[in-house]
Amino acid sequence: MNTVKIAFFDAKPYDTESFNELNRDYGFTIKYFKFHLTPDNIVLAKGYDAVVIFVNDTVDAAMIMQLKEYGVKLIALRSAGFNNVDLKEAFGNIRVVRVPSYSPHAIAEHTVALMLTLNRKVHRAYFRTRDTNFALNGLMGFDMHGKTAGVIGTGRIGRVLVNILRGFGMEVLLHDSYPDVAFASATGSSYVSLEELYSRSDIISLNCPLTRETEHMINSSTIAMMKKGVMLINTGRGKLIRTPDLIEGLKSGQIGSAGLDVYEEESQFFFEDLSDRVLADDVLARLLTFNNVIITSHQGFFTREAIRNIAETTLKNIDDYFAGRNLENEVCFNCSILPAGVKPEKEACPVCTS
Ligand code: NAI
Repeated sequence: MNTVKIAFFDAKPYDTESFNELNRDYGFTIKYFKFHLTPDNIVLAKGYDAVVIFVNDTVDAAMIMQLKEYGVKLIALRSAGFNNVDLKEAFGNIRVVRVPSYSPHAIAEHTVALMLTLNRKVHRAYFRTRDTNFALNGLMGFDMHGKTAGVIGTGRIGRVLVNILRGFGMEVLLHDSYPDVAFASATGSSYVSLEELYSRSDIISLNCPLTRETEHMINSSTIAMMKKGVMLINTGRGKLIRTPDLIEGLKSGQIGSAGLDVYEEESQFFFEDLSDRVLADDVLARLLTFNNVIITSHQGFFTREAIRNIAETTLKNIDDYFAGRNLENEVCFNCSILPAGVKPEKEACPVCTS
């Protein structure tokens, strides 16, 4: 009999459905909590062996030590990104696993959905025709074919995106801390400096992780380097963009349109139905007034295939840990800055190479 007990936070109906179905093969005891894991309710994790969390459950240094004291041995992220966990504190205290890839196609395709919607103004046409307004004024877009896209972060998601955009006949400029020249030449794209990518791209897509280096990489100075009227798409992490600077860019017309699947302060709002309340965030409220901005609430990952993969990999990660097997999806402070597929030096990372 499986005796492993799991405290599962931020559980939505689609999570419980997929986890319950796949857990039949494992038999873990799973307690689902509908709310985020916070310092105020962390006591609920007492007595559990693992906690399962999602993108907006923040686990800081103090919470790591608290979880350890409560007997929690594993934090299992249901996400690829891990910026919400203090990995430095976790190192040597609690192991952290994630789902590195649940469907890069899901996010890349959503990125393109935002691009096409903004470009061809489908969001505005939808409401117009429902109001029997069949005029085209204000709906003019541009051919994607022949235009230049800049993709920042050419990992799993970025690569799928590059292939789709090349399919449109776009020139694609790439930027990554670890350029893959073979990928660039195979797809007919090219790595350039960030400055060149900013200055030449008609559409810029952010597909890199949130790190100390990338936090607020899109700010008033970098926006000033961009082409006037550029389309900016962020399906990475909200804090890649300094939102007040984006708003200024939109007001001046320097940014022509923006598609945001993530937002700096999203943890207070996204994934919840707040339609019967007043929106208290002035920055988000301002963003929502622009007719050339589309905000989706972190739904890039949300496909049937991805939800199933998240449950499959998370349960396998937990099973691997408690069965004493090698953890292929472990993240730790030492190697978290390495790109996909790059193995850390043995000395640099005893956790990841053990
Ligand atoms: P990945 O790890 O496969 O690729 C990330 C790439 O970014 C790597 O090639 C890495 O070298 C590069 N990178 C790291 N620091 C960089 C920097 N300073 N400048 C340029 N490139 C840099 O990750 P994957 O799966 O492609 O995901 C990318 C990001 O997308 C995740 O970190 C996560 O934040 C976000 N994401 C968003 C989802 C959504 O639903 N909107 C779902 C899944 C991930």
